[in-house]
Amino acid sequence: MKENLKFFFIKLRVFFLLSFCCTFFYFSLPKELNAFEATLGESLFKHNCAGCHINGGNIIRRSKNLKISSLKRNGIDNPEAIAKIARQGVGIMDGYEDKLGDNGDQIVANWVWEQAQKAWIQE
Ligand code: HEC
Repeated sequence: MKENLKFFFIKLRVFFLLSFCCTFFYFSLPKELNAFEATLGESLFKHNCAGCHINGGNIIRRSKNLKISSLKRNGIDNPEAIAKIARQGVGIMDGYEDKLGDNGDQIVANWVWEQAQKAWIQE
């Protein structure tokens, strides 16, 4: 009887330990991935876009900047629309599909969209 009880408590402990690990894993993984993507997005932006869009502005056409008001005015209201511009260009801006690499358009667009939400103010 005593042995049974001990066994039960061991099982209980293993169960809690496993649930804890799974929860920890579940919560930590997506965050790590997001952090990685954000860093990658920032770096892609610095290398391919910041030359003209420094701090979300536009040194060539000031009104076509990456601030939320300008994006919305020009009908760009989601990251996919930005990704398309990054890939194919728009108006006098060239596309950067070759330089951005696999998924780079989407990753940099997500980063730009996030910065636009935060008014390009770095944390
Ligand atoms: C050589 C300068 C240059 C570079 C580099 C550049 N852009 Fe642009 N971008 C422009 C110009 C100029 C426009 C305005 C084009 C027009 O409407 O004729 C523009 C417009 C845009 C717009 C539309 C903005 C609006 O409010 O309508 C987005 C979004 C954009 N660029 C994203 C990017 C991203 C993302 C990158 C990097 C992958 C990038 N650009 C790189 C010059 C540049």
